[in-house]
Amino acid sequence: MPSPLNNKRVVLGVTGSIACYKAADLASKLVQNGALVDVILTSAATQFVSELTFRSITHRSVFTDLYSSESELSINHVALAETADIIVVAPTTANTIAKIANGISDDVLTTTILATRAPIIIAPAMDANMFDNAATQANVTTLITRGVFIAGPANGRLASGLIGQGRMVEPSNIISSASMILGKDGDFSGKKIVVSAGGTEEAIDPVRNITNRSSGKMGYAIAEAARDRGAIVSLVAAPNALPKPVGILVTKIQSAEEMKKVIATECDGADALIMAAAVADWRPLKKMDSKAKKSTSDTWSLELVKNPDIIGSIKNDSLIKVGFAAESENLIENSKTKVKSKNLDFIVANDITAKDSGFSVDTNKVTIIHSNGNIESLPLMSKYDVAHSILDRVKSGF
Ligand code: CTP
Repeated sequence: MPSPLNNKRVVLGVTGSIACYKAADLASKLVQNGALVDVILTSAATQFVSELTFRSITHRSVFTDLYSSESELSINHVALAETADIIVVAPTTANTIAKIANGISDDVLTTTILATRAPIIIAPAMDANMFDNAATQANVTTLITRGVFIAGPANGRLASGLIGQGRMVEPSNIISSASMILGKDGDFSGKKIVVSAGGTEEAIDPVRNITNRSSGKMGYAIAEAARDRGAIVSLVAAPNALPKPVGILVTKIQSAEEMKKVIATECDGADALIMAAAVADWRPLKKMDSKAKKSTSDTWSLELVKNPDIIGSIKNDSLIKVGFAAESENLIENSKTKVKSKNLDFIVANDITAKDSGFSVDTNKVTIIHSNGNIESLPLMSKYDVAHSILDRVKSGF
């Protein structure tokens, strides 16, 4: 399944901010996702970056001047506005936000925005006090009420050296927002998908726990792929280092028992449950209230009790249930047993001893074992592409 950006016409507006350097990376990521990118630079932006930078990345004309006789805009000044599937302005200064909010059209970018019917994403970048200012806040609110999607700004170190809210969000975040907006009427539109991710943590005492090496990447990729096909996604995530995905409800939990409770609630009214989480099989019988001290003895035993089988406990017959099996031996046989015992529609099995598959890496090579006994071996793919392959099979069960 190609990215929702594939073959889409994206107008990328770049305004005068030190964050302009990130816009080059954003243009490159848009192109990598298959978009046809028309860049508009405001005259302030040209002080920070050059036309050549963007022309080299997009292999297309870059627009700066409404009145240039070489530009197609000299014949039709709203040509870009009419053909755009989406307009992304990143970075957006306080000044450009003010102009857009007030319908001012005094350059190529603001004229294009005033004339378009395409969805618009604005990624503000400015000093924190400028963003906090009542005028900017009122302008942002106006844009939100008109349906403009505001991405960020993020908190962090600003050009002034101060820390605050004003940094342009990362290009990957803007790609996610654009994918979500362009994919909203996709083949999962109106479907609710519950996804679990990461390795649960079972507390021994206030400082120690039992966990595993799951990074959460596969579950997050499934959640993002479902979002990009128009699904409403509820992601139940065990602790991990991944950034919060755009447009997805994330409920952070720690233990298997917490995950079970949240999943039971979230599965109400859902169409599919995809359990990519690595749930700890055991938890300490008792969590110690204070930090366990090293005893004088050379050994220490911890009494463990079995965790509930989360996916096996969900009895809703209309729900499509997908499990994962990370195995180091007897991949197919163990997976077949799990499909039956957990009453799954199919299980996604991967050999964690294989190179390029399993924990932490961005690729996966999986075998899908269906409840009817069919077995499909998929090639090595990115986790996002594996996610789409899983969703294709979920869809055929709807
Ligand atoms: N799973 C679950 N609840 C558990 C354990 C696992 O819902 N307590 C889910 C996992 O999220 C996965 C599937 O069941 O989708 C298979 O998980 P796995 O750990 O491979 O299987 P186990 O049942 O734990 O069996 P074993 O550890 O013995 O292989």
